[in-house]
Amino acid sequence: MYDLLLRNGRLLYSDGTIAGVDVAIQQGAIVAIAPQLAEPAKTELDLQKQLISPPFVESHIHLDSALTVGEPRWNQSGTLFEGIEIWRDRKQNLSLEDVKSRAIETLKQQAMRGVLFVRSHADVSETSLTALQALLEVREAVREWITVQVVAFPQDGIYGGSQNDHLIEKAMEMGADAVGGIPHYELTREDGVKSVHRIFELAQKYDRLIDIHCDEIDDDQSRFLEVVAACALHTGMGSRVTASHTTAFGSYNNAYAFKLLSFLRRTELNFIANPLINITLQGRTDTYPKRRGVTRVKELWQQGTNVSFGHDCVQDPWYSLGTGNMLDVASMGLHVCQMTGKAEIDACYNMVTWNGARTLNVSDRYGIEVGKPANLIVLDAKDRYDAIRSRATVSYVIAQGKLLAQTDAPRAIWHGE
Ligand code: FE2
Repeated sequence: MYDLLLRNGRLLYSDGTIAGVDVAIQQGAIVAIAPQLAEPAKTELDLQKQLISPPFVESHIHLDSALTVGEPRWNQSGTLFEGIEIWRDRKQNLSLEDVKSRAIETLKQQAMRGVLFVRSHADVSETSLTALQALLEVREAVREWITVQVVAFPQDGIYGGSQNDHLIEKAMEMGADAVGGIPHYELTREDGVKSVHRIFELAQKYDRLIDIHCDEIDDDQSRFLEVVAACALHTGMGSRVTASHTTAFGSYNNAYAFKLLSFLRRTELNFIANPLINITLQGRTDTYPKRRGVTRVKELWQQGTNVSFGHDCVQDPWYSLGTGNMLDVASMGLHVCQMTGKAEIDACYNMVTWNGARTLNVSDRYGIEVGKPANLIVLDAKDRYDAIRSRATVSYVIAQGKLLAQTDAPRAIWHGE
């Protein structure tokens, strides 16, 4: 007897094909997928032809700052740099309980909307490493229902403070999953380059992934992506390395950008764009025409480079809005990147699912296949396009074989003629 049987669903594959199936789950794993399964189950759900998809992947968020909007003050200029200043004040009074309770609340919001894999950055620029310790504890506390990766993120730069280099190495010793960086916010170009080399050195020493906040600025002279690409080529680490944001890529001249694209094809680097945040943070010093401030998602996708979309912030000093809904992220991404062709819209769905899993290096345990852990969601949608267009309700969230969350679709009643 199965533990859980999902009847009458429509299973979505990454190439967009859809098959009518039942899915059987036992001891946390998918044990059978077939048009009709006869064996009984302890619990059965009739999906009424709703769409079965692998869960959403949140490949870039800052859980340590989530839900702090307005503390101690609102970001009036709306810039990245005022956000960093506000956070510098707010993080003076972080406690383990403060970070943990906000992080878990945010993860619950995300999971109810179908997110079961999350990569969070933890600021490691304060000497107590409270944010990192808290998120490492959260990672363990929630592991029965959501997978969290923690990136040691030196918000103020590895060389922006005398302690910071020591702190990021300590974060590796404490068990961060990935080493991060912010080369464009180091004090000089030379420090920025040095920081990228240091990040690769730490990742190799401790055998960790890399995820760098890279060129998150409108400055067309911010060119640390080429340094990351060179290090990825020299070390052969490309598929384990992620360049987040890379918004300056949208401002580079085309001659340079096309050369860079050809280098990137050789690296296997992963890219993360954060369209909700970057459409609001970037371009703030422009008058008109005003830049979109998002990296070249379409061109990267067209050449086969792995790109995923992240939410980045939920109600914090950089972004006061957000609910953790990855369909909002995909929708903003396709608008800002002008990916409105049918294949392009479908690709944006993959950027919050399969591509994110590849970025996180969890593809081996992600996806709906017999033998894999039973992590899946059921959407009140016909297909990928319909899911994004309608911001489909996530009817069921199944995490490691158990029903984690359930949402009823809103029902509008027409009283007119
Ligand atoms: Fe970020």
